[in-house]
Amino acid sequence: MKQIKMTVLSNTSVGHDTFEMILTGDTILRSGQFIELQLPNKYLRRPFSVARYKDNTLTLLYKVLGAGTSDMTEVGFGTVFDVLSELGNTFDISNVTSPLLIGGGIGIAPLFNLANDFAEKGITANVILGFRNKDEMFYVEEFKKIANVTIATDDGSFGFAGNVVECLKRSNIAYDKYFACGPMVMLKALASHSDMGELSLEARMGCGFGACMGCTIQTTKGYARVCKEGPVFKASEVIF
Ligand SMILES: Cc1cc2nc3c(=O)[nH]c(=O)nc-3n(C[C@H](O)[C@H](O)[C@H](O)COP(=O)(O)OP(=O)(O)OC[C@H]3O[C@@H](n4cnc5c(N)ncnc54)[C@H](O)[C@@H]3O)c2cc1C
Ligand code: FES
Repeated sequence: MKQIKMTVLSNTSVGHDTFEMILTGDTILRSGQFIELQLPNKYLRRPFSVARYKDNTLTLLYKVLGAGTSDMTEVGFGTVFDVLSELGNTFDISNVTSPLLIGGGIGIAPLFNLANDFAEKGITANVILGFRNKDEMFYVEEFKKIANVTIATDDGSFGFAGNVVECLKRSNIAYDKYFACGPMVMLKALASHSDMGELSLEARMGCGFGACMGCTIQTTKGYARVCKEGPVFKASEVIF
């Protein structure tokens, strides 16, 4: 963990209630990790995944949910945030030659940096991105530049009609390991279909660095903190 100041370079809408914030600061982040932003007038910091990190520049993708993320949409160039950086563990991509990345909604955020990691290793990942409907889609063109992309929408307004797990079952995509992030219900369905992967989990967080036990989940190895032992867990180890 590292406490730093990060300066906003840009903050733009990329879809329905969905924004991209680019910040710069003295940190090094890897795929799967997250940061915690201290927002003005908010007691608890807000956790966000590393959607892209390169050369001291961090991209966050965020969905407006409540007061904190709503306030974030008003933030402009030059705003300085107090940030807890380099939090959590990372995806394990060692020996993976045929990756499948599966994201639902804002859960696609950490998968973008991961798809870039594979691209930098000369591996084009297969990616399934799931959205409620066509209007909620975002970052599809960015993924397409580095990965083979399949889209699923719940209402069938674009791509496969159904959720990402149904899409995976119907597809003939070959993979040696999957990496997934999205709503808990999606991750549970995916893990019961196949445990050949890793899941990036979300939980309501207090401290964000292992001190309060507020983000504890059950695993086959006992209790684990999403912020410390996670957020990335083997699909075979999570008890839903
Ligand atoms: C490790 C981790 C990584 C995350 N990465 C991202 C990301 O990349 N992009 C993004 O948009 N969001 C991400 N989130 C979720 C994000 O932290 C919350 O959406 C944000 O804190 C909400 O703040 P708020 O003040 O807008 O909403 P609040 O007012 O705090 O909450 C609004 C509503 O959302 C619910 N809620 C808040 N946080 C969560 C949560 N973590 N899980 C489920 N429900 C929640 C609350 O119960 C409430 O109903 C991540 C969360 C975790 C734990
Ligand atoms: S949020 Fe405090 S231990 Fe995880």
